[in-house]
Amino acid sequence: MKNVTLLLLFFSLQSFCQSNSNDYYNEPHRPQFHFTPESKWMNDPNGLVYYNGKYHLFYQHYPKDIVWGPMHWGHASSTDLFHWEHLPIALYPDKLGNIFSGCAVIDENNTAGFGKNAMIAIFTYHNDELWKQGYRNTESQAIAYSLDEGLTWTKYSGNPVIKNSSERDFRDPNVFWNEEINAWNMVLASGDKVKIFTSDNLKDWKYKSDFKPNPDIAKTGTWECIDLFKMKVKGDEKEKWVMIVNHDKYTPNGGSGTRYFIGDFDGEVFTNTQPSIWLDYGTDYYAGVTFYNAPENKRILISWMSNWLYANKTPTKVWRSAMTLPRELVLDKKGNRYFLRQKITEGFNKILDTKVSKDKIQLPYSAKKLNLSQAELSFSFKGKQLSLTLSNSKNESIKVELNDTTFSIDRSKSGITNFSDKFTEPIQTMPVDEKITDFQIILDRPSMEILLNKGKYSMTTIFFPNESFSSLKIESSEKTQISNFTINHVKKTW
Ligand code: FRU
Repeated sequence: MKNVTLLLLFFSLQSFCQSNSNDYYNEPHRPQFHFTPESKWMNDPNGLVYYNGKYHLFYQHYPKDIVWGPMHWGHASSTDLFHWEHLPIALYPDKLGNIFSGCAVIDENNTAGFGKNAMIAIFTYHNDELWKQGYRNTESQAIAYSLDEGLTWTKYSGNPVIKNSSERDFRDPNVFWNEEINAWNMVLASGDKVKIFTSDNLKDWKYKSDFKPNPDIAKTGTWECIDLFKMKVKGDEKEKWVMIVNHDKYTPNGGSGTRYFIGDFDGEVFTNTQPSIWLDYGTDYYAGVTFYNAPENKRILISWMSNWLYANKTPTKVWRSAMTLPRELVLDKKGNRYFLRQKITEGFNKILDTKVSKDKIQLPYSAKKLNLSQAELSFSFKGKQLSLTLSNSKNESIKVELNDTTFSIDRSKSGITNFSDKFTEPIQTMPVDEKITDFQIILDRPSMEILLNKGKYSMTTIFFPNESFSSLKIESSEKTQISNFTINHVKKTW
């Protein structure tokens, strides 16, 4: 206990000193209101869980380098999902392997016997030693528990709870209490499908079924980071199940991507009842999963803003990569098809400061000397064609365009791009199957999150200008109306 108190004292002292320095979180390209690790490498969000007034974000972390390496679980917590407190590393590699992605639950009924309300992490061990010896089925599932809100962890002595299968990729467990069967469910990525399990105690797992929809998707790469949850349909009493799946290739714009299925689930078998949909069409939105136990039954998702095509090479030195803003998912319906809308969670409004607000603007619109490195731009729209260019004095720019039924982002002239030839090709595109009525564009130094039609369409991308973008040009080749035009400054949260 003494050690924990000392550790916490060290961490609070460290963050006290840092939050009083203007240099803290101010290196080139450092996001100002998105989550980034204080230093070194980060990838997937892990163990997203809400407990006792706090959101916990664990994440894939290599604390010794800014490239991917032996994985640990980093840890941070927040009361509003925008201001984060860094906490000690939660899980370290051990002789069973490195700690790959997974989830966390609160064991309200002490089903595992670790204690009432224990926070239990369910994760994958990736055994590098065996991997180096040439074995390929080196991944198993394990659990660990914390009785002090995620600060210190004990790994279960009976690990692994699910041993390696013959599958090479067998990882990223996501677990939830399913009241309909009065038991735990686990969804696990396994090659190019999902395996579904049940358990009474989180230690003994029974395999139930495989989910692999055919012929919905012909080609997929490896499946990773799965999530499964039930949602109420907006304005309806009906409920449907949503399954999120991440893929490492055959995605709309190359590399890492996230799609979802909508369907029915009886605790053993998931059946998708309509074609799958991409959750985001940008190149930098991966490994997205939702919080367990969020207040008011909300489904809040966070994704990693990078792409395995170049994640290890992006031009930062102190830390590498960021998470998306937290997004609340809403399940909506059009005709007989269900779809998700993504909405930045409520706390976002509290960090906004209005800078420009106009009922209408005339096109072409051009503004200079704006702070577009920390901004939210939003407007209502009537038309079919629009282009929006952000630029700086070095002739660097990023262009966003709507042409009838195609939305696109061109970052080929956005600044530092030569760290990977996969970064600028191709121009990212997204098909839109209804009239675009509203735009929300959130800019935080190296990132842009675009939400259209109240979050029905989403595109997330990163870029690295040599100087902040400060000019904005909006043009259209047709008669177009733009109203409720707002540019908000977004405050730094670090
Ligand atoms: C997804 C992923 C996971 C794995 C982790 C390793 O980005 O490949 O499947 O658990 O990253 O860091």
